[in-house]
Amino acid sequence: MSHSAEPLPMTARRSGPLTGTAKVPGDKSISHRALILGALSVGETHITGLLEGQDVLDTAKAMQAFGAQVQRLDEGEWRVNGVGIGGFAEPEGVIDCGNSGTGVRLIMGAMATTPITATFTGDASLSHRPMGRITDPLELFGCEVTAREGKRLPVTIRGASEPVPVRYKTPVASAQIKSAILLAGLNAPGETVVIETEPTRDHTERMLAGFGASIRTEITDEGRVITLKGRPELNPQPVAVPCDPSSAAFPVAAALIVPGSEIRVPGVSRNPTRDGLFVTLIEMGADIRFENNREEGGEPVADLVVRHGPLKGVTVPPERAVSMIDEFPILSVIACFAQGTTVMQGVHELRVKESDRIDAMAVGLRANGAEVEDTADTMTVHGKGVLGGGATCASHLDHRIAMSFLVAGLASERPISVDDGGPIATSFPDFLPLMRGLGAQID
Ligand code: S3P
Repeated sequence: MSHSAEPLPMTARRSGPLTGTAKVPGDKSISHRALILGALSVGETHITGLLEGQDVLDTAKAMQAFGAQVQRLDEGEWRVNGVGIGGFAEPEGVIDCGNSGTGVRLIMGAMATTPITATFTGDASLSHRPMGRITDPLELFGCEVTAREGKRLPVTIRGASEPVPVRYKTPVASAQIKSAILLAGLNAPGETVVIETEPTRDHTERMLAGFGASIRTEITDEGRVITLKGRPELNPQPVAVPCDPSSAAFPVAAALIVPGSEIRVPGVSRNPTRDGLFVTLIEMGADIRFENNREEGGEPVADLVVRHGPLKGVTVPPERAVSMIDEFPILSVIACFAQGTTVMQGVHELRVKESDRIDAMAVGLRANGAEVEDTADTMTVHGKGVLGGGATCASHLDHRIAMSFLVAGLASERPISVDDGGPIATSFPDFLPLMRGLGAQID
């Protein structure tokens, strides 16, 4: 569903110490994949901890449109009765993926090797994002693609009736590209191979293996070579979705910058392909403890204990960008409250996310008194330990931009507002009550 409601302005004010437990929602990446793999299995997949954000709800609706039975049993508890690989039915209507790049790209992959036709659309943000990075490799399987100028949505795909397996080296480090190809490869005979030069998040590989597909990853001179045997029988598995480290980043950041804070964030995924923000924060001197390290649902998780304390600027090397790609907006806020310069390198992909995140953060932080420089591929923040605040920032239909500025306002001298907090519901529907429960002043 596209975010078309009236704008929802929000303001965050300097708050007293944040304390308590922040139970953040289920991982967005894993939630999309659980629904899609459930729909591609024969039989019943039981999911707990599913993120009930709009992005994931749109994927659930899409899976129903392709013929799967998807049912909500309780909060975060869902049941999917799948149709099997190659079993997708042709949807009656257009598939509206709302704001979700992950949703639309993974679903395009999942249907591209089944001989049905589907048209995909999304909101104003998604309609500006590049789809050629997905449709180009999908065409190699034999599907036909029609898209708007610049390979943007709406896109219509006529799935391949005689798909062939593909060997593809991803030109940009993107888990969405990798995952779309692997999902398409499920219904191609023989072996589909994806080669990536940087290790992007590996939830698709982990979950496919868990559902019984034959998939292996080898590290070679070419990069990470992932090989999937086509036409497996996927066996439904219970999926326990861990808490989303990308959502945990917001209360964690708030606790780090609001003096006197100490919070606990239980059950957060510590998948090494998603861990870059925590690595960086530790380098900045952040007081974060990881307790009860354990495995849940095939993913490493831990309980986080986070305390306010002094932070220093650091340089984030380009090879780390992919493991924290969604966390740079909030890191740029934390960097304002550190002493010294933080340089974020290799971040060009931020320019094609839900918004141009480098521009959105640079413009908004400058308006609030920060010293920020940006180039095509870098963002630099000269941290002074404080932020003036006082400005209203544009969220550009981007949940992470809205949440980042609201967290900044909890520690800035004057309040910080966002023009529209509505998009927060795409990934973190309980952001406001959760933050208020810790003592944050946001209205
Ligand atoms: C995602 C991959 C990332 C990330 C997005 C979720 C996924 O995108 O930014 O929020 O679930 O695969 P790219 O793989 O395109 O970098």
